[in-house]
Amino acid sequence: MASAQIVYASMTGNTQEIAEIVEEALSDLGVDTQITEMTQAVASDFEQADICVVAAYTFSDGGPGLLPEEADGFVDELQELDLSGKVYGVCGSGDTFYDDFATAVDMFDAAFAKTGAKRGADDIKVDLAAEADDIDHLEKFAADLLAASGK
Ligand SMILES: Cc1cc2nc3c(=O)[nH]c(=O)nc-3n(C[C@H](O)[C@H](O)[C@H](O)COP(=O)(O)O)c2cc1C
Repeated sequence: MASAQIVYASMTGNTQEIAEIVEEALSDLGVDTQITEMTQAVASDFEQADICVVAAYTFSDGGPGLLPEEADGFVDELQELDLSGKVYGVCGSGDTFYDDFATAVDMFDAAFAKTGAKRGADDIKVDLAAEADDIDHLEKFAADLLAASGK
């Protein structure tokens, strides 16, 4: 049975809901799935999983889009890991009001790319809360991750 670790950061709940949609979709596909809020996780939790998922919102303080402050330390630890042989996926919520829409997703993708893991699904950026078409995309994201894992 394939296993998955989802780590999420969420300030107002949108990304938590996104992470929970992915959790449910993976579980429905028979994947043994753990979900952990980022401040309760260490990046090395991914070493125990076949499928590694980060869901993160984007923050800014008048300048460029930034990682959530919960990601301090976590992202540094992540990009030092050797996750060869595993697949990863990144999703998250932002707000299209901002020029740097959901750029934390791109930043986590770049961090995972340094680990040797293979991207198993296209990144997903959700505008605020997930709506019906986002849920469809997140369910496909989960299915693509499982297929890419080869399990
Ligand atoms: C002060 C502040 C700055 C933000 N900056 C950005 C940004 O640069 N880019 C972006 O896409 N969204 C930005 N957002 C929007 C959040 O990412 C968005 O509300 C998201 O849905 C929050 O996710 P959460 O409910 O999981 O916390 C910002 C929100 C706040 C409150």
